[in-house]
Amino acid sequence: MIVIGLLAGIVTGGVAYFIPWLPDQASTQAEEIDGVYWFVAIICAVVFSLVAGVSIYAGWKFRAPADDMDDGSPIHGHTGLEIWWTAVPTVLVVAMSVWSAVALARAETLPDDPDEYTTIEVTAAQFAWSFTYPELERTDGELVLRVNEPVELILTANDVIHAFWVPEFRMKQDAVPGIETRTVITPTKEGSYDVICTELCGPGHPVMRAGVRVLSDADYEAWVAEGEEGAGGGEGGGGEGEADGESVFAEAGCGSCHTLADAGSEAEIGPDLDSVVPGQEEQQILTSIVDPNAELSEGYQPNVMPGDYEDRLSEAELDALVAYLVEVAGARR
Ligand code: CUA
Repeated sequence: MIVIGLLAGIVTGGVAYFIPWLPDQASTQAEEIDGVYWFVAIICAVVFSLVAGVSIYAGWKFRAPADDMDDGSPIHGHTGLEIWWTAVPTVLVVAMSVWSAVALARAETLPDDPDEYTTIEVTAAQFAWSFTYPELERTDGELVLRVNEPVELILTANDVIHAFWVPEFRMKQDAVPGIETRTVITPTKEGSYDVICTELCGPGHPVMRAGVRVLSDADYEAWVAEGEEGAGGGEGGGGEGEADGESVFAEAGCGSCHTLADAGSEAEIGPDLDSVVPGQEEQQILTSIVDPNAELSEGYQPNVMPGDYEDRLSEAELDALVAYLVEVAGARR
């Protein structure tokens, strides 16, 4: 039985080893998490193989002949076996929890020097993500990280529970209304990834995604500089305190669902603003923002777009946003 079990374990383990099961590892945390994953997976494969091996062997070896109507022989306990099958799982489960706790603590360790990492505030809302970079005084619908720099994410939610997950980074954390949760990521590979909401949060849950870009030092500096230019109010931007439609568009996370050439967004979750806005009255645009279910574009479902922009944005911000859309997408004035 043990030989059958071990053989099955070796075969499943060997097959598993040669298949690329997991997404790319794009953070230092990914190595910790995958270590735990494989440790647990191998234990499960071995235990499953042993149990299945014993079951199959017993079913074959002790099967009753067709004419045998007797009850099975009365067996009462086996102290030795019971000690073993209590002790072995106990050791395995304790080992799994200890390894997990150690891996999680290591994955979430930040450097002592606050200059060596960044903090980003992540806000989840039905059904969009927004990222605030306190050091840059900037909010965006996209998560932009510098390669090899640890980042502490402080998460919260405006409405219901969501969960932040970038498969290539592995770390997963709930975003819960009323409290702040945290996680740490140290991206190691430049590239584009997706934040995926992994907590069922409403009808827009499957489309609740946001872009992540991991940039080289030079590209990151360029991105920071570009943000400072925008905030400086170059083209058509208002002065201090006045709402600027382009920033409202970015900060409210509109670009994570809608395409708008002027804002450089190419998302396809909601209608393409470059094609639906032209020809609309200002009032109609405002209604579409504050009461998205009032008039749906063809082919789009109700309750996907958040319905609380009237609370989230001030009147001045809403006006600025409408004015911006009229300006860049060419609506009727
Ligand atoms: Cu947010 Cu699912």
